[in-house]
Amino acid sequence: MAKFPKPPEGSWTEHYPGLGTDPVSYKDSIDPEHHQHEIDAVFMNTWIYVGRAERLPRVGSYFTRELPWAKRSVIIAKDRDGEVRAFHNICRHRGNKLVWDDYPNEETSGTCRQFTCKYHAWRFDLDGTLNFVQQEDEFFGINKDDFGLKPIHVGVWEGFIFINFADEPSDTVEEFMGEMGTGLAGYPFHEMTERWKFTAEINANWKLFIDAFAEFYHAPVLHQKQATEEEAAKLLGYGFEALHYELHSPHSIVSSWGGMSPPKDPNMVKPMENAVRSGLFGPWDKPGVVDELPPLMNPSNHHAWGTDTYLIFPNLMILVWETEWYLTYQYWPLESGKHFFEAELHFVPAKNATERLQHEFATSIFKEYALQDANTLEATQKMIEAEVVTDFPLNDQEILCRHHHAVVREHVAAHQEGRPVNYPWQAAATS
Ligand code: FES
Ligand SMILES: [Fe+2]
Repeated sequence: MAKFPKPPEGSWTEHYPGLGTDPVSYKDSIDPEHHQHEIDAVFMNTWIYVGRAERLPRVGSYFTRELPWAKRSVIIAKDRDGEVRAFHNICRHRGNKLVWDDYPNEETSGTCRQFTCKYHAWRFDLDGTLNFVQQEDEFFGINKDDFGLKPIHVGVWEGFIFINFADEPSDTVEEFMGEMGTGLAGYPFHEMTERWKFTAEINANWKLFIDAFAEFYHAPVLHQKQATEEEAAKLLGYGFEALHYELHSPHSIVSSWGGMSPPKDPNMVKPMENAVRSGLFGPWDKPGVVDELPPLMNPSNHHAWGTDTYLIFPNLMILVWETEWYLTYQYWPLESGKHFFEAELHFVPAKNATERLQHEFATSIFKEYALQDANTLEATQKMIEAEVVTDFPLNDQEILCRHHHAVVREHVAAHQEGRPVNYPWQAAATS
């Protein structure tokens, strides 16, 4: 497994020859044609995260996902053998949406023995088999075997459920996760089942918003109000350097300090945080479910490690915190200048009111800071769309931004040229 300690000379970026150090064109974030190519080449052709396995606790558990970028809705369900299945959410009789509750465009979840269509009551088993047709003898000798639900390829890595719309996916989920998958396996994600979710439609390209979460260079500036005034001034004075960056194309990692969970000095944070023992970096007290970190977590083995961000291509981020909780972000393209953002905080379930308060407090502070990024990125999108400036200098801390744009562009090019994708910087990586 390629693993780079802090480079003794040169930079993180220069350890990946071929990635380049030149300014980067952001045309890929404003061009409607490129947006459509991304949908076809990337989103319709790779493993896409749709939800955690804990959402399917028993046989018959299901949830739906609305995926407007694909003009599709999907059902994810646990069948009688305990296998996770995925289907297109369309009835094979006359195309009604099969699973929904009060509003057909909203996602839903629940438990059932079978899926019954609301239109003419055709019934489908949990494995997709059509097992009941109302007044079947009026259907001219219909063979029910020919009209099961349309399946979708599904794969599960460490409880993260992925689907793939390709007819024949070019890899399995394990192959797709690659060294990232092996290096992060074993973390007790499955213990962290208390979930808090936010969604927002944001007027910025999906990759631009990923950029804002893939570097910490902006943190002491954009988020300075998160700290006390005195502390913010100090942080601004130092600037910020994360601990470690590593590429496992198409995926990547940035590892960083914790700092405030708990803070070294109580004056670093606001009085409310001291009272609750929780804040932007999560609750200060660990639930104690992590024995040993998997090898790729805290990759620099730093004693002041606080959080790792794993950018799983194309649109999932997992942030694991030293204090034993994690965040997931997803960025769904809607238009070249618009995307749908989902954020979920995952905690070990609270055992008492104090813990519950700590979780709620961390959640509400998180929302405030995500909004700070959202405002900024909507303004950025407007500016780059004018094309007065087209190329932007990215620094060494912005290596994940540089890499992610490059990977997406490579997938689009490979798709158009009908060849396999190729990450030349990865093959040439030097330690
Ligand atoms: S459309 Fe579903 S039963 Fe007719
Ligand atoms: Fe931010």
